Amino acid sequence: MTSDLLKKAVELSLQIRKNAHAVYSNFFVGAVVITKSGKIYPGVNVENSSYGATVCAERVAIFNAITDGHKDIEAVVISSNLNGKAAFPCGICRQVLADFNPDMDVYLVNSGTGLIENKVALSEIFPEHFEFHK
Ligand code: THU
Repeated sequence: MTSDLLKKAVELSLQIRKNAHAVYSNFFVGAVVITKSGKIYPGVNVENSSYGATVCAERVAIFNAITDGHKDIEAVVISSNLNGKAAFPCGICRQVLADFNPDMDVYLVNSGTGLIENKVALSEIFPEHFEFHK
């Protein structure tokens, strides 16, 4: 991916993060997936009064890409601020992301500073992902 596209994805993640429906946790997350074909798809966390129905920003973003016909995920950018640090994705999202590309890059953006705080391979933070073989 070009540095321009990454910059665009970081900016979009920071911008959409404000739209998160985080009325219970007050923890706002903006995620953007980047496809190998150069497209970007946004997602925010959407909480629900039936707490278990809440969906994380990362899954909303990847489901958006899939809905638009793009499964070629190269990377995900996640913007948040958890006690001053950019948060890592939850276990469920790691598994969902891994189903499409277990080696994708994960960029963690601190929404306080607007800067990329961490870049890790998904395989590093989620090794031995479950894969269903028929
Ligand atoms: N959340 C995300 O959006 N992504 C994560 O990886 C961790 C958690 C959201 C879900 C919920 O709205 C809030 O953060 C607190 O768990």
